[in-house]
Amino acid sequence: MKNNILEVRNVTKSYPVYSQLLHTKITKKIVLKNITFSLEENTALGVLGPSGCGKTTLAKIIARIEQPDSGEVLFEGRNIFSYPNKTFACMVQLLFQNPYSMLNPKLNIGFLIKERVRQYFKLNNTKVEDSTVNKKISELLETVKLSPDVLKMYPYQLSGGQRQRVAILLVLCLYPKLLILDEPLSALDVSLQAQMLNFFAELKQQFKFSYIFITHDENLAEYFCDQIIKIENGEILTK
Ligand SMILES: Nc1ncnc2c1ncn2[C@@H]1O[C@H](COP(=O)(O)OP(=O)(O)O)[C@@H](O)[C@H]1O
Ligand SMILES: [Mg+2]
Repeated sequence: MKNNILEVRNVTKSYPVYSQLLHTKITKKIVLKNITFSLEENTALGVLGPSGCGKTTLAKIIARIEQPDSGEVLFEGRNIFSYPNKTFACMVQLLFQNPYSMLNPKLNIGFLIKERVRQYFKLNNTKVEDSTVNKKISELLETVKLSPDVLKMYPYQLSGGQRQRVAILLVLCLYPKLLILDEPLSALDVSLQAQMLNFFAELKQQFKFSYIFITHDENLAEYFCDQIIKIENGEILTK
């Protein structure tokens, strides 16, 4: 039997709603209600639901970007907030809907990637020479099937597909055990979507991570995920 990598237990989250006139908090909007599910290691979970149902909020809670009002999230059996930041960075990584949000427009791709790879070695307390960093970068470029030419480019010069692959490289390079893909394909044209998902399935085997694939496309989720949950109005729909 496989172990659970992730357990989400009774997670509830609300956001305050402010009065525009008085600038005071007048009420709260409940976005997630009592969400409970678990995920086994090396599996893919699809999270389906219409826009505004709380999918990104759930992703942010699992990635520790937001705190739940109540309930808890366990990673490998321990509350996620019990892990030091350094450790957590190598456990859970979130790939956002818009890869632009990960890329500083003023920095060339080579610089961005180098910083990330250095961070990886730093997290593992390893002092490294430039040649080791460069070797790692070449390996990663090969993994995500990007030509070294992109290193000289700036984010605006990349195609949608290249931008997506750079964003994937930046998250993969920390070797996370869980990857959360928040509608990662919505910025791509249809022909690239299936190609990208096949690629994720390959990477999952190679890197042995689990992933949560957030989408509103039921067919894609059915095809690429081992397990699916549907959210509507902040609650998990039972089939
Ligand atoms: N930081 C925030 N402050 C207030 N309301 C928010 C915030 N983030 C999200 N919301 C609201 O929570 C609801 C769910 O948002 P979200 O999780 O982004 O949905 P989805 O990703 O499924 O489209 C939406 O109504 C959204 O407006
Ligand atoms: Mg969203």
